[in-house]
Amino acid sequence: MKVPLFLLLAFAVVLLSGAVTFAIHETIPSETQVAMPGADAQKLGEYILRGSPYTQWKMWPGKGRFYKGTEPHGVLLTTYVNDTAYSSIRSGRGVLSDGSLIVKENYTPEKTLTSLTVMYKVKGYSPKAGNWFWAKYTPEGKAETAGDLEMCIQCHGKNKENDYIMTERLKK
Ligand code: HEC
Repeated sequence: MKVPLFLLLAFAVVLLSGAVTFAIHETIPSETQVAMPGADAQKLGEYILRGSPYTQWKMWPGKGRFYKGTEPHGVLLTTYVNDTAYSSIRSGRGVLSDGSLIVKENYTPEKTLTSLTVMYKVKGYSPKAGNWFWAKYTPEGKAETAGDLEMCIQCHGKNKENDYIMTERLKK
């Protein structure tokens, strides 16, 4: 059977417009409507609490609220990821893209929020340790400690080949 050329062309146009729409949605996730901060503890705190409130992000794929954590983080954890981190995790590539942001809420057994621990991948920030900017905040967003933190890296570094991520194996 011969398919008329105009039908083939129409089909190609439909496919292409689909691809373009997809590309736009991929490159402009909602939270980039507010410019992302650099490796700056205070600006990052403002960004996750007000600029693009992390509680409106998706949770870590497959994890819900108050899942069981281990030392030194909370007994109960809820972990939010921005769109960049979410799609990197879902891709199964084994690394998170630049701009990935993870905010983990740490709770007591009574579900009192005690702190937020954050990992933010900033291009070129610290190539020797995966370009992660590490930070710990009070629930109100006050930075307690932040930067290229040895105390975080010495433990997360055990999973260096997993892009310093502990929650799960990234490579699928
Ligand atoms: C003694 C080991 C250890 C230290 C130190 C540590 N973490 Fe973690 N971290 C973990 C483990 C284990 C998990 C997986 C969740 C869980 O079971 O608690 C985790 C998970 C995380 C996550 C979720 C993403 C991921 O890697 O899975 C973030 C964000 C995080 N930690 C931030 C920090 C920050 C910031 C510091 C330093 C202030 C820090 N961590 C120090 C062990 C550690």
